[in-house]
Amino acid sequence: MNCSSPIGVYDSGFGGLSVWRALYDALPGESLVYLGDGKNCPYGDRTPEEIARFADEAVERLLAEGVKMIVVACNTATAVAIKGLRERYPAIPFVGLEPAVKPACLTTQTGKVGVLATARSLEGDHFRTTAAKYADRVEIIAAVGEGFVEIVENSAEKEPATLEKVRAVVEPMLAKGVDKIVLGCTHYPFLMEQIREVVGDRDVEIVDSGEAVERRVEQLLDEYGLRADADHRAEYRFLTFASQEYAERLERKAFDR
Ligand code: DGL
Repeated sequence: MNCSSPIGVYDSGFGGLSVWRALYDALPGESLVYLGDGKNCPYGDRTPEEIARFADEAVERLLAEGVKMIVVACNTATAVAIKGLRERYPAIPFVGLEPAVKPACLTTQTGKVGVLATARSLEGDHFRTTAAKYADRVEIIAAVGEGFVEIVENSAEKEPATLEKVRAVVEPMLAKGVDKIVLGCTHYPFLMEQIREVVGDRDVEIVDSGEAVERRVEQLLDEYGLRADADHRAEYRFLTFASQEYAERLERKAFDR
């Protein structure tokens, strides 16, 4: 492993590509190996034990690729497994994904913040601790994006039924007066257009974690002295535990925007 080694990016499926894109845009010299599990997706309703096992397998696979850092581009796997991963692989820098609840709570004007995430993420320590910290000032309206992960996995974002599914989850938050909606699952930014359509002309900010994660990756690259040289030609690979066809779809989705 050295500076020209790739950065590993892992998610249950397509969602982490929203983070992959932020890294691709900001760090053109860095090679990236994306692992979208695919076989065990969605993670949202799995038991913590199962998710921890999937995350272990993914990390082993990425380490076999010689990665220099691993971005767990999945809020659910981060909530359940990142602590254990950091303990088991102390030499590898890990970056996790957490719903951006804090910045939303610090900037809300209405005192009401919506959080969209999977069931496991909402049960996670990080979310519960952060929500409790602001509970005296901010009402957090949390909801699971029912069916959202499946929509993204099936590339069904533009199908007519999708907007109604998004509306069913987002409208009740808007009715309660939220002025921030935090996307606490990396699949959800792929539904940004539909969420915006439901929000309409209301003054509501949709908060995504992609850029904050990218900044954290840069910080760690510098801290560990792992930045690729300026003239390094980046390479991009897409791996999965599902089929070859799934890997090809991952690659198409990464570049197709
Ligand atoms: N993309 C993932 C997340 O950020 C997990 C979605 C799932 O597999 O349920 O939580």
